[in-house]
Amino acid sequence: MKKCLKEIEEITEMQQWQKSTVYQIYPRSFQDSNDDGIGDIKGIISRLDYLHDLGIELIWITPMYVSPGNDNGYDIADYYQIDPIFGTMDNFEKLLKEAHKRDIKIIMDMVLNHTSNEHSWFKEAIKSKDNPYHDYYLFKDPVDGHEPNNWVSKFSGSAWEYVPSLNQYYLHLYDVTMPDLNWRNPELRQKIFEMLTFWANKGIDGFRLDVINNISKTKNMPDDTFETPTDDGRNFYTNGPHVHEYIHEMYRKVFGPNNFVTVGELSSTPISEAVKYTDPKREELSMAFTFHHVKVDYTNGKKWTLGHYKLTDLKSIISDWQIKMHKNNGWNALFWNNHDQPRAISRFLDDNKYRDESAKLLALVEFGLQGTPYIYQGEEIAMKNSYFTDIKQYKDHESINAYNDLLKKGTDKKTAIKILQQKSRENSRIPMQWDLSENYGFTKGMPWIKSFQKDNYSVKSVRSHSNNIFSFYQNLIKLRKTNKTLMEGSYKLLDPEDNSVYSYIRQKDDKRIMVIANFTEKEQKRTILNDCKLILGNYGNIRKTSNIVKLRPYEALMLEQ
Ligand code: NOJ
Repeated sequence: MKKCLKEIEEITEMQQWQKSTVYQIYPRSFQDSNDDGIGDIKGIISRLDYLHDLGIELIWITPMYVSPGNDNGYDIADYYQIDPIFGTMDNFEKLLKEAHKRDIKIIMDMVLNHTSNEHSWFKEAIKSKDNPYHDYYLFKDPVDGHEPNNWVSKFSGSAWEYVPSLNQYYLHLYDVTMPDLNWRNPELRQKIFEMLTFWANKGIDGFRLDVINNISKTKNMPDDTFETPTDDGRNFYTNGPHVHEYIHEMYRKVFGPNNFVTVGELSSTPISEAVKYTDPKREELSMAFTFHHVKVDYTNGKKWTLGHYKLTDLKSIISDWQIKMHKNNGWNALFWNNHDQPRAISRFLDDNKYRDESAKLLALVEFGLQGTPYIYQGEEIAMKNSYFTDIKQYKDHESINAYNDLLKKGTDKKTAIKILQQKSRENSRIPMQWDLSENYGFTKGMPWIKSFQKDNYSVKSVRSHSNNIFSFYQNLIKLRKTNKTLMEGSYKLLDPEDNSVYSYIRQKDDKRIMVIANFTEKEQKRTILNDCKLILGNYGNIRKTSNIVKLRPYEALMLEQ
């Protein structure tokens, strides 16, 4: 009996990654150590103490493998090598060692939906239809002299590219230089498992799996009907017929035996599917990145528009995921920012007059939720959008293609730039702001991407003030590690129709935590729990009379009853 109880305790014991916070590094823009203008591994090592001080326990680093860099590393040409722009394999091994010394785990980004067209597999594949590597990719014959179907690339234009020497097209859901892999081919899968094992043997702690829910395409890849504004072919490859099988196979061969932490990037995925990916019983992934909440300002589902969001919509999306994932044993990865998103502070709040309050509000709302929180580099010092004013300042293919598309459709240049300033992912790719010297202490050379704005927020300047954003994050990270209500409690949305204030309750046994956040610059009076005490607030105190609180502009409170 005793043994049985102990076993139950062990099963329900939370995993370390469920209590920890993850920090995302976009290495190119994080810290340059050799002044060539590109961030590198030695730069990351030099900042490990900073990250340890913040309190995070895992780092996710976006791809650093050999790549021509058309999509900043998401176009891999050699899975087995570190790109020299970031350093050497020795540097990488040292990074692992130094991180582990500080009890920080390293999660590598892994791109398995596509490779670069400079990968040796693809170079072989286009040699002839009989080449053994030809079937590693998705080639199709023309139909009536045209593309095999009407799917649209996520980077604009057709998703097919013609290869005259083969008289065939290949599928590329992303950039034309990023051909999609054919996961139906067992030999390809075997090669992938071997490669994942190579990294496991290096001693890494897990993978963030890029667009992993797109790897299994519907057999004959039919035309899309374009019935809804978001139709572009995605219905035939998102969460496709064999995707769970393939991921389970990776779990059995690599993730499980190595006790990996894995997070799947799952765009356009319903909750029912996200549950399947992350329910531990199914042995697939640890947690899910989903994107519905960061599409809340798309107009009719379209990204490249000037959009506005309603707080009630944002609350409803987040709440749906909170409740249904928890109820069905799924696990959320919580985030506002990453390298593909404009900065949330610029997008949803005020990155000017109430910048500190807004940054802390976002932190508090995220860390109050159920799931594993992520911080994207610079979020802990309230970095804001880059707001580029000229298309020449952009490097990102997705943004440049979108700009050209907008002009083709008749949008004037000024509006097109305004749309990019709101929606482009380049907004969050400018160098990390370490201090206020030239190029913000990121490099002494010419940065690969420049920040053209004068900003007085940096790690050094922010941390020189008391009660700063960085220390607010430190408090939240600490709290998450120990507070059972935050880790395991249920979630309930209060006042779904309130378009100014977001409040919710987390509950575990008889303990309740209330998070209440004013998303406007107007003062708001609201009712809070009786007899509760303040755990954390972005103004440092609370203004209340009995259970009525007067929320100041962008005020956010975490209260315990
Ligand atoms: C998602 C990555 O986060 C993004 O940066 C990349 O462009 C696409 N996947 C394609 O790999």
